[in-house]
This record gives sequence, C-alpha cells and structure tokens, in this order.
Amino acid sequence: MSTGPGLGRPDRADESPDEQPSGLGGPGEDAARAASSAGTRGEADPGTAPGTAPSGHAMWGTTTSGTAENVGYVPTNAGAQPAGPRKGPTQGESELVREALKDAKVSHETTATAVRPMPGRRGKEWPRPDRCRIITIANQKGGVGKTTSSVNLAASLAMHGAQVLVVDLDPQGNASTALGVEHHAEVPSIYDVLIEDMALADIVVPAPEIPNLYCAPATLNLAGAEIELVSKVARESRLRRALDAYDTDKYDYVLIDCPPSLGLLTVNALVGGDELLIPIQCEYYALEGLGQLIRTVDLVKAHLNQKLKVSTILLTMYDARTRLAAQVAEDVRNHFGDVVLNTVIPRSVRVSEAPSYGQSVMTYDPGSSGALAYSEAASEMAHGGAVQ
Ligand SMILES: Nc1ncnc2c1ncn2[C@@H]1O[C@H](COP(=O)(O)OP(=O)(O)OP(=O)(O)O)[C@@H](O)[C@H]1O
Ligand SMILES: [Mg+2]
Repeated sequence: MSTGPGLGRPDRADESPDEQPSGLGGPGEDAARAASSAGTRGEADPGTAPGTAPSGHAMWGTTTSGTAENVGYVPTNAGAQPAGPRKGPTQGESELVREALKDAKVSHETTATAVRPMPGRRGKEWPRPDRCRIITIANQKGGVGKTTSSVNLAASLAMHGAQVLVVDLDPQGNASTALGVEHHAEVPSIYDVLIEDMALADIVVPAPEIPNLYCAPATLNLAGAEIELVSKVARESRLRRALDAYDTDKYDYVLIDCPPSLGLLTVNALVGGDELLIPIQCEYYALEGLGQLIRTVDLVKAHLNQKLKVSTILLTMYDARTRLAAQVAEDVRNHFGDVVLNTVIPRSVRVSEAPSYGQSVMTYDPGSSGALAYSEAASEMAHGGAVQ
C-alpha cells in the first residue's frame, strides 16, 4: 500500500517532556485523582518517554509540542475531532485511509433499545439495556487492544452495576488471564462449548475481583478448534446456538473477545454477536486490513447474521505526543463518523501492567489515565444504546 500524503513521513518535531496529562476532560475529581495517582505512582510509558521516539517508529516517529492529553479524551489541538458534531464519513480523508477502507462502509444507525436507569457505584446513573447486548470485539490485526478493551470495558460496566459476561474466544486465553480466571487445560472452556456441545452455563465462572462480572474461559485446546470446526455441522453458528440456549437475559452485556484472525472462531463471534466493536490502534499500520474486516462483516450479514452491525469503533493506545496518532484518529473519524467513540484510550503503562496481576486496570489502578478512559468509553457505550 502506498503512503498517502495525509499519513506520509511526518516532519520531525520537538519532543516535549509532557509526562503527565493536562487539560483533563473528565469530572474534576477523577481528573485530579488521575493526575495525582499517575504522578505519585510514576505512570509513564517507557516507549514514549521524552526524548525517545515511540516504539516502532524510531526512524520517523514524531511528537507534537505542547500538552499531552493522554487521558482518554480526544484532544482539541491534535487534529482529532472533539465531542460534538462530527464530520461525515468521507470528508478530508488521506489517501492511505481511502485505500485501506475502500468499500468499507458502516451503518450509522443507533441501537434502539429501551433502557432503565441504574445507579452506578460512584453515584452516576448509567443507562442499562432492557435486553442483553451481545458485542463482538474483533480486528484481525494483532495487538490492537481487543483483549484489553474487552476486559476493561466489561469491568467498567460491571462496576456500574451491569451484569456482564466476557466470552474468551482466543486460544491465547488473555482475557481469562486478565480477569483472574483459571484456564489451564483441564478447565471446562469455550472449546468444550464449540466442539463438544457443552452448555455455556457449565463453563461460565465469576471473575474473582469484580462482582457482576463473569467469564467463559478459553484454554489452549481452542487452538485446534479452527480445524475441528471445519467438519462440524453449522460450523459458523455454534457460538450463536450456545448463546441462544443460554439464559443471556440475565446479563446486560456479553462481550466476545476474538483472536487476531478472520478464521472460524472470529466468524462464530460475528454470527453470535449483534454488534461489532472494532478497536483501532492509533498507529501507522492500524488501518490495514480494516476493509477486509468490514467486507467479512458484510458477508456474515448477508448470509449468517442480519442483525450484525458495526456499532462502535474505539481508538486505542493513543499517544498524544505523536502527530501520527492524531492523524490516524482524524482519518478514522472522518471515515467512520459517529460510530467512533469520542473517548480515546491513551497509551498507559498501568493498562499493560494490570493483566500480569490477573486484574483489569479498573481494579489495578482505578485512578490511572487508562482506567478513567475505559470508564468513560464504557459510559459512552452504555449511553449510546439509549433511546433519547
Ligand atoms: N492503552 C494501552 N496502553 C499501553 N499498553 C496497552 C494498551 N492497550 C493494550 N496494551 C498492551 O498492548 C498489548 C496488546 O494488547 P491486547 O492484548 O489487548 O491486544 P489484542 O488485540 O487483544 O492482541 P491479540 O491480537 O494478540 O489478541 C498488550 O501487551 C497490552 O497490555
Ligand atoms: Mg487478544
């Protein structure tokens, strides 16, 4: 793919020593907490330390001078659009994004579900869907934040009283790890559901750290499932069948974490879900493959799951000091319009540390910029499903 003018090699700009965020857009108390928490615990991403280029961009990664709005809100000075009216899907796109996303269109319809108010633990009220929302989190590109987003959005929603199930559909079992759920070979897992017709009810376990949050774990066995599914009856719809046979109405949200491929596991997730959330990393190659993903979604829609729609796009690992991140964010907003959440997830070392403690960042460091951003994104999702 050629490099378009909009995302060509950026000019070198001065690095700024903007370790900590400023200009927080969230509630004042949270903002203060974030700043103080990050300050006292020394939150800084080694990959983006002042004076170094972001990892992977050593040759041409650049930074913008000024503040780092590295806290989960679209920065007003970074080229990405802030909250409020957004541009339509096709204005001002770079050549790269046009090439990457040609044919990729998503419906901008909103989810028309009735809601009932729900008091949050912090006194906030988040709307709650009257029917379970099954949201598939997919992007065949690896390492873009699918699992991190699944786990932290699920944790945020559960911490505001919603009943949430995370279905780990990745043989790596990263979501199970991050939720502190056992997933060694003997544990009944999503493999048994897909291949052995076990009921979901027999594998779902509570996540130990957070009330209201449950997990259908994945074990390494699942790695063989792509092959084993091929010879199974209704091989694309086995997760859907399992969900239909399960009492999903006891949940407000089911989030399905996908592996980095467009194989049968991901297709099962697309057939099983009503909505698709695509995490997009704010990096140069992030848009590659998106067109293919959207075309797969269209095929699934046409043949296997009419209800499926791309409801949400979440920009992840945003580094406010790079012009590139702002450019990617702007391109994605220009192309996809309203389905892109206003909140962007900043690169934050706390987010990447949390899974090694078997935790989401929401419990590991609730005041960190990453936790605040995921909470804000989850709130947007909860409100996005509301009939106004
Ligand atoms: N906001 C963030 N800040 C810093 N690190 C992050 C952030 N989000 C994710 N990471 C880290 O980036 C890596 C990839 O994230 P994650 O595992 O969520 O991606 P993925 O899309 O699920 O990957 P895979 O395709 O392998 O399943 C992980 O090490 C994770 O801890
Ligand atoms: Mg993953």
